Amino acid sequence: MMTARAIKPGDVAMAHRVRAITSEGTVRSISQAFRPLRHARLAAQERLTNIEAKVQGLPIIEAQGLKRTFKARGAKGKLIEAVRGIDLVVREGEIVGFLGPNGAGKTTTLKMLCTLLEPTGGSATVVGADLRTDSVGVRRRIGYVSQAGSTSPEARAGEEIMSQAELYGISRSVAQKRGEALLAALDLGDVWDRPCGKLSGGQRRRLDIVMGLIHEPKLVFLDEPSTGLDPQSRANLWTHIRKLRDELGTTVFLTTHYMDEADSLSDRILIIDNGTIVAEGTPAELKKKVSGDAITLTLRTAGDAERSALIAAGLAGADTPVTEANVVRLHVSDGGSALPVLLKGLVDAGIEAIGVEVNRPTLDDVFLTLTGRSLRD
Ligand SMILES: Nc1ncnc2c1ncn2[C@@H]1O[C@H](COP(=O)(O)OP(=O)(O)OP(=O)(O)O)[C@@H](O)[C@H]1O
Ligand SMILES: [Mg+2]
Repeated sequence: MMTARAIKPGDVAMAHRVRAITSEGTVRSISQAFRPLRHARLAAQERLTNIEAKVQGLPIIEAQGLKRTFKARGAKGKLIEAVRGIDLVVREGEIVGFLGPNGAGKTTTLKMLCTLLEPTGGSATVVGADLRTDSVGVRRRIGYVSQAGSTSPEARAGEEIMSQAELYGISRSVAQKRGEALLAALDLGDVWDRPCGKLSGGQRRRLDIVMGLIHEPKLVFLDEPSTGLDPQSRANLWTHIRKLRDELGTTVFLTTHYMDEADSLSDRILIIDNGTIVAEGTPAELKKKVSGDAITLTLRTAGDAERSALIAAGLAGADTPVTEANVVRLHVSDGGSALPVLLKGLVDAGIEAIGVEVNRPTLDDVFLTLTGRSLRD
């Protein structure tokens, strides 16, 4: 039976849809005509829910007080506290960057979360499996790409993929299909028969990632995925890592000591130093922790610089300006609003600036503020 329904102005798209379907002669009732629209609406709702899940996501890694000490060789009884009781949460669909200088404890943490290294303290759940009591469950559900890579130079790429798949009990036909699809997704379409040793560094790293994903894990750990690659290959790898998350929905937990990598690739960053997490947040949130923007003024003379420093000191949210010859440096809480005031002050005082720079804080500034050291040290 036909159901009467008034079409409101906002229903234009729906009305078109009804006519289109009617003209095809396939509609028997209005409610039937609206079924595809309902499906479309439900699909849109589902997409929204997925996006929300991506933003808010369920925890896929939860660790409390995770700790690992090593006995130092030679030094009797001396312990190295590589990871000192860290708490962390990674949510489904996130790309999380684990950033820290050499020796900070990144690989040790990753190896613990992948069950390759037993924690000396604390607990964790990884993709729903308990790290201590269900290590097989954890291994089945995760992918791990080691810092050193895992391909042998003589083996052909395809052979490496097939033997990795065999470890997970995947049949050869499924492995081949998945392997080829993953290679294509990572722009490695033509490497199946090529020896791994003959691939470029970037291609080999992407092959490592294909192998880490062959059993379709929901979560993949990448230890320093782009170390040793040239800037172009690194940027290309980032695009592929983002694609993994966007198209396959894989959660990515990666370590890096490159600030630009953490900054441009991660939804969220955890900064580790000396085995302790010293900061956590989105790249923008972390940069906000560093107070304000840096202003650098270059004047014609040292005398002008001294006078400019007095004017700059009066700006809202300014710290004490530092003058060096004809250059004045200071921090303000908001460079965008401070700069016009500063320039007007200089003009009013008859001082001509020959250079002005405003720099937003970088993740290195964050690290410097938190630890007193540069990440590059
Ligand atoms: N098997 C081990 N035996 C003894 N000490 C170790 C062992 N593995 C790691 N360490 C020490 O633990 C600390 C953390 O090492 P880890 O490899 O986790 O650092 P990382 O952050 O991954 O550094 P990198 O950026 O160089 O890869 C370092 O002081 C390291 O020397
Ligand atoms: Mg490491």
